[in-house]
Amino acid sequence: MKDAPEKMCCEGIDKCNTERDGGDYIKIICCLMTDCFPPTRFPATRMRRNRRTDWLRCLVQESKVTVDDLIWPIFVVDGDNQRTAVESMPGVERLSCDLVGDEVGKARDMGIPMVAVFPYTDENLKTPDAREAINPENLVCRAVRAIKSDVPDIGIMCDVALDPFNSDGHDGILKEGIILNDETVEVLCQQSLVQAEAGCDVIAPSDMMDGRIAAIRETLDSAGLENVAIMSYAAKYASGFYDPFRDAVGSGGALKGDKKTYQMDPGNTDEALREVALDISEGADMVMVKPGLPYLDVVWRVKETFRMPTFAYNVSGEYAMLRGAGEAGWLDYRKVLMETLAAFKRAGADGILTYGAVDAANYIKSG
Ligand code: PBG
Repeated sequence: MKDAPEKMCCEGIDKCNTERDGGDYIKIICCLMTDCFPPTRFPATRMRRNRRTDWLRCLVQESKVTVDDLIWPIFVVDGDNQRTAVESMPGVERLSCDLVGDEVGKARDMGIPMVAVFPYTDENLKTPDAREAINPENLVCRAVRAIKSDVPDIGIMCDVALDPFNSDGHDGILKEGIILNDETVEVLCQQSLVQAEAGCDVIAPSDMMDGRIAAIRETLDSAGLENVAIMSYAAKYASGFYDPFRDAVGSGGALKGDKKTYQMDPGNTDEALREVALDISEGADMVMVKPGLPYLDVVWRVKETFRMPTFAYNVSGEYAMLRGAGEAGWLDYRKVLMETLAAFKRAGADGILTYGAVDAANYIKSG
């Protein structure tokens, strides 16, 4: 540090500097706040000066949400000309493949770079081995082809996990009450392959099986799909915030028990770093933390530790809270959505999956 103060202003500050983030920066701030490091404090220093006008506030703003940061998750359903409301997610509709291109085109026109496609699978197609997941003609593959042909310049991301196709509602294959890891990974590889062949640009394994990133990378590469990227749901927690999503894809009713043997315990963050480290070592191009807002500390630690392209999933329950409270007149949805997205950027996220993506794009555009 330049111009070190002659005396230490806070007991033990050197220790706290080295152990916590910031180092010298914290020291300077502490010195400023106490008396020993000239020049300024109140009244010479007035923090409110930089907040005085709009133009000044935007000059000093540290992080900013732009439309480039947004990934829009969408739900697709079988049939023609179908739009069905998702009751627990006001404003969200499942769309049939003939309508999806139009809606995605509008998102592209607003500048949204990528959509994430999730299928609502017909109950009759769900089996214990989730075989519909690897059908190249399944709903999600048809939707991907429809979007690719209608809107070729938007990115398409697809979830890799068996829950929309599994009659047990789990992300993996269940046998005698246990989710089988290695058998599931084999199916996930096939699922990744059919999705990538349909035109998916970013494969996003959300299943939390061990070893799946390496296995999927190898499967894609040996099929000549080396340019298909992998965004791993690297730190995904066993969360109560997913329930509206399970309603949207129709997997909630089937699910017995919980997902705690594969999704993470909400109390853990060191474990999240191990998960992320493993996925990076196995070939993930981008990593994700999920849910989002209740796990901002994890987003922060992941970004600080690995400096990887890092994403956060502002999940269905988070959306439902804001949107529902907005509809009840308890919160201003626009304000709290934009504030939430700003929080993700501040925590270090490079991008955010949010059901509010189109709303946010509109708000950003209208200023
Ligand atoms: C499937 C999956 C889930 C979500 C994304 N992919 C649900 C779950 O793991 O049970 C949740 C997304 C959301 O809540 O918005 N594995």
